[in-house]
Amino acid sequence: MKTTHISRAAVAAVLALAFATLSHAQGGAPAGNAAAGEQKNAMCIGCHGIVGYKTGFPDVHRVPKLYGQNAQYIATALAEYQRGERKHPSMRAVAQTLSEQDMADLGAYFEAAKPHLAAAAAHEPINADAAKALVDKAGCSGCHGADFNKPISPAFPKLAGQHGDYLYYALKAYQTADKAFVGRGNPIMAGMVKQLSSQELQTLAHYIESLTGDLATVQRSRFR
Ligand code: HEC
Ligand code: HEC
Repeated sequence: MKTTHISRAAVAAVLALAFATLSHAQGGAPAGNAAAGEQKNAMCIGCHGIVGYKTGFPDVHRVPKLYGQNAQYIATALAEYQRGERKHPSMRAVAQTLSEQDMADLGAYFEAAKPHLAAAAAHEPINADAAKALVDKAGCSGCHGADFNKPISPAFPKLAGQHGDYLYYALKAYQTADKAFVGRGNPIMAGMVKQLSSQELQTLAHYIESLTGDLATVQRSRFR
């Protein structure tokens, strides 16, 4: 009981922080144009437009699904790579080339390209009961939504159906502060994952991958 109580208080504190960050982020952000974003997407499809494409450095995992993701979250994430708050080297290099308007346009493009494809069926075996207990204890739904597909803010990511190996890699990155090419500085998620073991992060990642949501990778040739 006691741990539940503490984690509720912690969630309230990070929620306050989340909204402070959010109102800051929204100030003066340009409106995105999906058609313009489609033109700017050429640089992205070599990785994000190939179903199951894996990156090999600094670690091996599938690249995240972007189609169907929230526009504002995409623009926010790109700005974090540009500022170096997210350290992934290839995404840092990509983000250096983008203006604030490019980021907004690309976000609008990926959000609008809702593919409504059937979720891939092949999942690793998951321990759903253990995962649900962790989700309740940590209060993930308070921000990401009960189904991990309707976050409380468009600046927060949809997670349901995202690649599990990527989710695990991202969660580990919020625990990492001392490496050159790995790490994410977001204080909200850093606080969330601080108390969780690698095994618990794996359990969460597999569970969230098994949920059905809007996210997909669209093979570019099929999408034209
Ligand atoms: C060389 C391959 C590559 C290219 C090209 C590339 N990306 Fe990425 N992208 C990645 C990888 C790998 C990640 C995961 C990085 C991490 O772990 O933070 C990623 C992450 C992202 C994320 C964060 C997603 C999330 O769920 O947080 C966004 C947004 C993104 N890319 C957008 C783009 C856009 C827009 C372009 C084109 C302008 C692009 N990427 C080009 C490989 C690539
Ligand atoms: C207080 C709000 C809040 C809570 C609670 C929260 N998150 Fe998050 N989450 C966020 C925000 C905001 C981001 C985007 C951070 C960034 O910009 O890097 C995020 C990002 C993530 C990402 C990276 C997604 C991607 O596409 O790269 C994962 C995975 C994630 N959260 C999982 C969880 C899990 C699992 C829990 C529960 C243990 C949780 N979150 C609890 C707000 C929250």
